Amino acid sequence: MQFKKYTKTPKTQSMKKILILNGPNLNLLGKREPGIYGARGFEEELKDLQTRYAGRVELDYFQSNIEGELINKIHEVGFSWDGIVLNAGAYTHTSIALQDAIRGVNTPVIEVHISNVHKREEFRHKSMISCACVGVICGFGLDSYRLAVEAFLNEE
Ligand code: DQA
Repeated sequence: MQFKKYTKTPKTQSMKKILILNGPNLNLLGKREPGIYGARGFEEELKDLQTRYAGRVELDYFQSNIEGELINKIHEVGFSWDGIVLNAGAYTHTSIALQDAIRGVNTPVIEVHISNVHKREEFRHKSMISCACVGVICGFGLDSYRLAVEAFLNEE
């Protein structure tokens, strides 16, 4: 089996372009099960990340509850951007189509989860996308996203 390497990404831009891609129900962050996902909305978190990485990373954001829209977005950025930070929500556990989309593009993808899925229900222990991603970060709350951006910045 061949694994994707970070070096497949074009290195022509000085500022890295990274997409944070959130899947189903993650538009409800801040309202949805705050005991698990926290009380903070993602817009706030995104602003903080954009401020933190200003001048170093162009951080874009897309969220959809629709599997095909997530796949279309991966296709759209997946041949020119430097990284995708993907929280596929529940599609993580079900979507072979997302796995294929990740395999089909050049841009490396880091899988993230806010909660530690391995401490939760058994059906959350299985990810259909991990095998196509360069790495997985989970269980650090919204900080999981920052850790993924850091991982892209630390690459050589
Ligand atoms: C999640 C974990 C998934 O199991 C769940 O379906 C989500 C969020 C997380 O970020 O912890 O929607 O991806």
